Amino acid sequence: MDAQAFVKEQIDDIKKSVGNGLAINALSGGVDSSVVTVLGHRSLGSQLKTVFIDNNLMRKGEPQRVVQLFSQMGIPVDLVDSRAEFMKALKGLTDPEEKRNAITRTFYATVFGRLVRETGAKFLVHGTILTDIEETVAGIKRQHNILSQIGIDPEKEYGYQVLEPLKTLRKDGVREVAKFLGLPSEITARIPFPGPALATRIVGEVTEERLATVREATAIVEEELGDTGAFQYLAVLLNDRATGIVRGKREFGQIIVIRCLHSVDARTATPVEVPWKKLAKICERITAIKDVNRCLYDLTPKPPATIEYI
Ligand code: XMP
Repeated sequence: MDAQAFVKEQIDDIKKSVGNGLAINALSGGVDSSVVTVLGHRSLGSQLKTVFIDNNLMRKGEPQRVVQLFSQMGIPVDLVDSRAEFMKALKGLTDPEEKRNAITRTFYATVFGRLVRETGAKFLVHGTILTDIEETVAGIKRQHNILSQIGIDPEKEYGYQVLEPLKTLRKDGVREVAKFLGLPSEITARIPFPGPALATRIVGEVTEERLATVREATAIVEEELGDTGAFQYLAVLLNDRATGIVRGKREFGQIIVIRCLHSVDARTATPVEVPWKKLAKICERITAIKDVNRCLYDLTPKPPATIEYI
């Protein structure tokens, strides 16, 4: 791929589509939305408003860190606190697709709809990539960020048009473009993190308490497995319990699953042979989290499994 030609073409396209109008984009700090943010700002400057929507499902310190990183690059990002709205939408839901659907609706219809009305933006610049479209069309999963592909007309339903400059690229292509754009390695080398965030790693209901558990486990896994060079590593909270003994007492506690995978483009993935010592250390740290007494390592490749659990 010719990154330079790609960037030029996309910048021209965005300028042409938006004209003198106003556009908005949501940044998550992942490589896809980060590339879109830089492309958008190079195309539109102050005609683009970038927001970071805090959905309460992000990793430790993530919203503040992302806003800070972009501000260092001269790109202003508004942090929008929507934590309560997402928690309300997820309350009582346990079905994976219902959870994804609630997050999609809250994101686009409730929060974005409101921001679009407030700002008068007529365009949403979005980081959809080819794999998202393929898997949604194939019925493997309803990716949270797909609208027109699943029969929702965003203009009719939410009042804006969606521009998807990355829709012909896979993850490896996006990373190439990110490097070409000079994004810092904290972003270009960042492991993929799904739009519905930690909700994809909680089997069953998403509650504040369960989020705190998986957030803590995620921080440990990212610290311990960062040096593996793996494509992705994550922690999942199961909706099951197991008996354990904590400080001499029986406890029916939580179970955390660790996943660490090699992959090029997330379409297929194989488990990494993490050294036993490292796994044992992770297990020790994970089971020190309140209420957690089991830690499992998942050996399943994709397929038959997916990378995330919902
Ligand atoms: P799965 O779990 O389908 O994940 O094997 C494939 C890759 O996509 C990420 N993923 C998502 N990314 N929105 C995203 O932006 C989503 O709804 C979503 N679901 C999964 C996942 O982390 C993996 O890298």
